[in-house]
Formats: sequence, structure tokens, C-alpha cells
Amino acid sequence: MALAGYVTAGNQVLREAKNPEYTRSVLKDSNLTDTALAEIGRIARIGWSIHLALVLLPFAARSVRNWHYHRRRPPMLVHPNGRTVAVHPGATVLETLRENGIPHASVCGGRARCTTCRILVTNGLDRIPVASGLEAKALARIGATPGMRLACQIRPTSDISVMPLLAADANAADGTVRGGLKGSERLITVVFVDMRGSTTLGEAKLPYDVLFILNQFFHEMTKALVATNGHYSQFTGDGLMALYGLNAADPAIGAADAVRGAREMLTRLDQLNHQLREDLPEPLRIGIGIHHSTAIVGAMGPPRSQILTAIGDTVNTCARLESLTKEYDGLVIISRPAAEAAGLNLTGHELHQAPVKGRNELVQFYVLKTLTDLPI
Ligand code: FES
Repeated sequence: MALAGYVTAGNQVLREAKNPEYTRSVLKDSNLTDTALAEIGRIARIGWSIHLALVLLPFAARSVRNWHYHRRRPPMLVHPNGRTVAVHPGATVLETLRENGIPHASVCGGRARCTTCRILVTNGLDRIPVASGLEAKALARIGATPGMRLACQIRPTSDISVMPLLAADANAADGTVRGGLKGSERLITVVFVDMRGSTTLGEAKLPYDVLFILNQFFHEMTKALVATNGHYSQFTGDGLMALYGLNAADPAIGAADAVRGAREMLTRLDQLNHQLREDLPEPLRIGIGIHHSTAIVGAMGPPRSQILTAIGDTVNTCARLESLTKEYDGLVIISRPAAEAAGLNLTGHELHQAPVKGRNELVQFYVLKTLTDLPI
């Protein structure tokens, strides 16, 4: 409003100034002498000089700081593209990469929200503070594996080597992919869950009702996974595959979590059956297979829809164990290695064995028929 008033007054003066008489009278009334004019000019020049100096000062200060910093040998950042660049004081890895024209994904602009700037710190991890606050929450959300950090949040004060985990043109959807490590062979626990009799359900109910029931079922199974540190890996129509021990310091913890997960799923299924008793032709039933062994784990799939999953003999064996639950009429079939890793005391349970396609040795397993057979 003040500026508008200023402009209006200026326009009015310009209009009036077209009249020479007006200009003469204003100059006369102002008592503007040559000395006063010279003084006004001097003050204006001083004002402009100060203004210019203040504008240039930050640029000059930055140059001085950089010069000083370079004299003291700044921390260096090594990028897998072969370049090694200096990290300015207080700069994040993301800012350093941008300053040096190295493309790097950052959908949220550096606010620790999108996780698209995720990197693997391959050297110097022990010399940066551990993740906290927003960064820790974002990393937990994507199930980050050891060494993963957000480039927009870490400010190196010593040499560091990093490896981007997503493409520079990654989008927000890519940021939802969990983990992000390239495939690595790891000792993990795989769990297969399959709903029994889903065909009967499809025949007895309308498609909309089947979808509703299945979505309720997956909702409960996913909650069981979250509560027991499991990672939902794949959806298989009327079942799912989950991975345990991805972030555990000891793979045995993953096996114990998987057993807790199976118990949690069965408990939640009982509750769901009770809630839907009016809608279900018969109670929902599931079979669960658990196996513990090495598998190749990593983000796999098409570039825009990768999932953190596992492949290999361990997965096939686990799927086989799950399918055996029908044959043995068991709730859970757990392989001997998984039971041993989880520390289950299965004294009194018969040790069975069965062939697995593509495998020379038979797989040994225990059949658990009731919830009380799951002692954890
Ligand atoms: S840029 Fe989005 S989390 Fe780092």
C-alpha cells in the first residue's frame, strides 16, 4: 500500500511538472542551492557504494571461506563415476554432487521425505554421525540395510565414498522401493503363506465380496509382518512371500521373528474369521512354510516397479514346504535349519523329509498342527 501511494504521488508530480510555472515555484520553495545539490549527490553515492558492498560481501566471504578451506585440504567425496570432488564446510553430499554437476535424484528437494537420494556409503561410514531424526525415520520406513544413508542429510567432515542406489532420474514411486541394495547373497528366513480353499470362496461369493475378504486378509497378514519385523516381498494371488532377518544383526533373530510372525498371522486369522463369520461360507485357513538358508536378496524387477525380494533354492524350498501343509494337514511346516536357527524346542515332533524339485538332497522339516506347537 505504501508503494502504491508512492507511485501515485510520483505520477501526480509528473503531471504537475508539465506546467513550467509549477516547477519554478517548487524549486523556489525548496531553497535548493548548488551546495545542497552537491551534498545530496555525495550522500547518494555513499549510499549506493554501501549497498553494492553489502550485495557483494556474501560472494566475497564465500570465496574467502572456500580459499581458506581448500588451503586446509577439504574432505573429498569419491563418486563411482570416477570423480573425486571437495566437500565445502557444512555442505551435504547432495549439495556437493549438485555443485559439481553430478546428477543425483532428489525428488523432495532434500527434506528427508522421498528417500530417492539414498546412497550406500562404501567408505567413511564410521566417520559420519549415525542417522537421527527425520533421516532415521525415512531409512526405517524403507527398511534400509547397513551403510545406506540419505545424501541430502549427511555432511561429511572427512573423506567419504558413496554409491547412488537409485537412478538420477528416479521419481517419487522409486522412493517407495524398500532397501535398494544390489543383489547380495545373504542368510535369511523366507516365509510363504497361502490361503486354502480360495477357489471355493470364489464360487460361493460375488467377485466384489471375494476382493473385500482377500483385502481384509492381506491387511491382517501385513500387520502381522510389521509387528514381527517381517518384510512383505511378493503377493501371489491368494498368498504372499515374506522375508525375515533383512536388518537383523544376527540371522538367527530373523528365524525367531519368522516363527513369531507365523503365530501372529494365525492369531489374526482367527480374529478375522470371527469378524467375518456371517460372510464366510467356511472359516479362512492358511498354510505357512518357513525356511532358513542363503538366498540372493536385492531390489529386482522392472526399473519403475522394483521390489526387495529374494531368489534361489531357498525360496523354491520354502514354497515346497508351504505346499506340503496340505498333504500333512499342518498349519505350519518349518524346515529343520529354520527351527534350529529360531531355537525351537521341537522334542516329540517327528522329523519328516521330502524331495524338492531341482535339489539333490531331501529337505527335512517339522509339521506343526496347532498354535501351541509354536512355542515362541
Ligand atoms: S532428497 Fe528426498 S530424501 Fe533426500
